[in-house]
Amino acid sequence: MLIKRPSPIRSAEITSKRDYLSRRAFLKTSGLTAAALAGAGIALDGEGAPGAQEAPHGRALAGVQRSPLSIADKPSTWRQITTYNNFYEFGVDKESPARFAKGLNTANWKVTIDGECGRTGALDLEDILKGETLEERIYRLRCVEAWSMVIPWVGFPLANLIRKCEPTSRAKYVQFTTLDDPRQMPGVRSAVLDWPYVEGLRMDEAMHPLAILAVGLYGEVLPNQNGAPLRLVVPWKYGFKGAKSIVKISFVGQQPRTSWMKAEPTWYGFYSNVNPNVSPQRWSQASERVIGGGFFNRKTQMFNGYGDQVAHLYAGMDLEKFF
Ligand code: MTE
Repeated sequence: MLIKRPSPIRSAEITSKRDYLSRRAFLKTSGLTAAALAGAGIALDGEGAPGAQEAPHGRALAGVQRSPLSIADKPSTWRQITTYNNFYEFGVDKESPARFAKGLNTANWKVTIDGECGRTGALDLEDILKGETLEERIYRLRCVEAWSMVIPWVGFPLANLIRKCEPTSRAKYVQFTTLDDPRQMPGVRSAVLDWPYVEGLRMDEAMHPLAILAVGLYGEVLPNQNGAPLRLVVPWKYGFKGAKSIVKISFVGQQPRTSWMKAEPTWYGFYSNVNPNVSPQRWSQASERVIGGGFFNRKTQMFNGYGDQVAHLYAGMDLEKFF
């Protein structure tokens, strides 16, 4: 996705690298996030949470329900999902997020709700999670860079949070803004994107049952490099629509200008539905490299294989024009 050569992050600029790498700091931050989940009535250390046995790396989430919306494909491994990441706030190469996001402080996380809705203001993560049943959603993730994985997210429908916010009839789109903190995120000091990272969905897309807000992975609290404590997952769209570490959700009347649209509007459209027939970038979207598999060993499917569930959202639209 990279379109500008970023200025390299000098090691001297990476504040408290020692802290980032310190296991104590990691346990402290992940533990506090776990406390927010517990505060919302979502128990931890749950035996029988899907995936918990396979990945005892952090704090398991209890009461996670399986979902009929999961696919049957074998998930990518924990290691693949947590060490091959895009999170430019921590650097542009795939290994940087796992190294440098360790110290991200996700405690006392707040999400501001604003715009065309009845309930505005800052919500604690525990308010957001209150009353939610966490579900495991095993989804395909297709990156616009033409690689893919299968990820067992844990989350809840985005539609549930939207309903709680009581959007008005003037709310046509939902905009997601993510954390932009140079003290914690060395990558935002480079001009590779116009920070903060902003993404958006049309209201009917956002209300679709497949669109979720994820707080976990493999039955455990979401690792920072995957967008803790709260990230968007929209499986029929390219992975970059899945904004990580969300701090603001805005209900707006106009189509948001997303970070990638600003960076390269001819390559990255607002919709960014996975589409093997449309390749506005320099590379083809017809096939993909399954991480851990072979070389471009899979034909890309329209809407990433979710066409039966989502194609109706785009009925009558020219998908080459609205890419
Ligand atoms: N969100 C933020 N805030 N910053 C980013 O750089 N990268 C996006 C998306 N969300 C990104 C982001 C891209 S390009 C992809 S492919 C997915 O996150 C990758 O998610 P993963 O690392 O959990 O697989």
